[in-house]
Amino acid sequence: MQDTHDTTRPTTSARLAVLLRHATAGTHQAVERLPLMARLTSPSVTREDYLDYLQALAEVYAALEGSLLDALDEEIRNDLGIRPKLPAILEDLAEQGRQHVPRVSPPITPTGSSAALGGLYVLEGATLGGRVIAKHLRRRLGPALGSAVFLDFHGEHSSAAWKRFASILDSLPAHGRMDPVEVVSGACAAFAVVHRMLDGAGTRLAPAQTGPEPIGLLSSGGGRLAASVAAIHED
Ligand code: HEM
Repeated sequence: MQDTHDTTRPTTSARLAVLLRHATAGTHQAVERLPLMARLTSPSVTREDYLDYLQALAEVYAALEGSLLDALDEEIRNDLGIRPKLPAILEDLAEQGRQHVPRVSPPITPTGSSAALGGLYVLEGATLGGRVIAKHLRRRLGPALGSAVFLDFHGEHSSAAWKRFASILDSLPAHGRMDPVEVVSGACAAFAVVHRMLDGAGTRLAPAQTGPEPIGLLSSGGGRLAASVAAIHED
């Protein structure tokens, strides 16, 4: 019997922010388990670990943030309340007496505005978890942590900023302005890029890309997307 239920397409009633959380949860956990991140969250974290983290995140944001923001309409960008995070990372590095020397790697480009929105969900979400990491580092490193502008990007307004971001995110497909499948696919692909770039960072940064890489509808992301969406339907 033919199955008429397409499990690769999120139901219109499903909230996009929830779909994104489910679809990227596995990669998020994998990122948290990376040696660089495990050191950052360990009780014996050092200032050097924090600096390695900042350097690695600077690479990630330098490769992704500009092209993702450029792919979105200014109106949507403003509605979402997104402010670039790379300047905050560079500010933290400068405060620690470190200069970020960018590698000569081409920016990673999204395949369209929906994929870009998914990628920005990943970059924006990093500051949500960042607040938790900042509290841990403040306890362990004390004043040596400095301002932690990136990790504590939204400060007291973290929760409100995320709620606003998530509610605009949820409203966009309903207005026909974004394709939810491509948004989720873009987020999965961007998170995979983040994982790859952070893997091995802190000892030696991953090799630079050999050419511009489109994100969003990578073939390797498709299987994961279908599996993630299927898992949501089982909830
Ligand atoms: C050691 C590293 C990390 C830890 C411990 C961590 C921890 C967390 C925590 C606790 C939250 C939930 C915060 C809340 O609900 O108030 C969160 C959310 C999130 N984090 Fe991370 N994070 C880490 C790294 C990253 C990185 C590198 C990225 C991407 C660049 C990232 C992307 C996200 C996203 C997208 C969310 C939002 C999930 C949702 O939709 O609710 N995280 N993280």
